[in-house]
Amino acid sequence: MPLLELEALHTYYGLAYILQGVSLSCEEGEAVALLGRNGQGKSTTMKSIMSLVIPRRGQVLFSGANIAGCAPHSIARMGISLVPEGRRIFPALSVLDHLRVPVCPPQVDREEQIRYVFDVFPELREKIHDNARGLSGGQQQMLVIARALMVKPRLLLLDEPMEGLSPIAVKRVIEALKIIRETGVTVFFASTNCELAFRIASRAYIIEKGRIVYQADRDEMLGNLQVQRHYLGVRG
Ligand SMILES: Nc1ncnc2c1ncn2[C@@H]1O[C@H](COP(=O)(O)OP(=O)(O)OP(=O)(O)O)[C@@H](O)[C@H]1O
Ligand SMILES: [Mg+2]
Repeated sequence: MPLLELEALHTYYGLAYILQGVSLSCEEGEAVALLGRNGQGKSTTMKSIMSLVIPRRGQVLFSGANIAGCAPHSIARMGISLVPEGRRIFPALSVLDHLRVPVCPPQVDREEQIRYVFDVFPELREKIHDNARGLSGGQQQMLVIARALMVKPRLLLLDEPMEGLSPIAVKRVIEALKIIRETGVTVFFASTNCELAFRIASRAYIIEKGRIVYQADRDEMLGNLQVQRHYLGVRG
């Protein structure tokens, strides 16, 4: 049974019909990318999983149970965490304060989880008492990911985690996501950049106008320049 399975999700914003039957799945322990150009429905897919927008039809199966429409906080407690688009930090809070904000499920040992996130992001441990406003863009993104890990998720969702970061920060986020996956967390993330995404993902789906139009493993997609050019605007 896949850890996450979306079955024919249809999502609207008012009258705007955005997700038009999205189906995809992630096996436990996998890293999977959702690729697509701007405005094709990547964020809406992530929000639909978390019930930040409630799909009108279709199922969100997590470990086999349909969670579509459950309250976002209960979805988080079930073991799904979302790192949203943009880096929403609290400028005046310290690094450690950020890690104390999330409500940990009762079975999670907060101190142990703090040690885990500092092992993943040693640069945050060095800044533990610094205010978030003093962190670099890359460190702020690491902090947002660290915060999402505090509930000890089985599934980590990330919406464009590399967007707008310096090349060095992109490299660090990629390294960290690999470690997170290796420690047993399933990773499903949105990206517009096929080449960067496959440094983490072994498989990807392409979304266009709210529909999954292509799916392939790393070798097949990286070898198919025609698909990359057509759906992702890759030149060459
Ligand atoms: N709150 C909203 N109300 C109405 N339409 C919206 C809303 N949010 C997004 N949309 C529209 O839904 C479509 C899909 O948007 P979505 O944010 O899912 O795309 P995306 O693939 O994440 O793109 P981006 O690269 O811009 O992040 C777009 O046409 C967008 O204009
Ligand atoms: Mg988006």
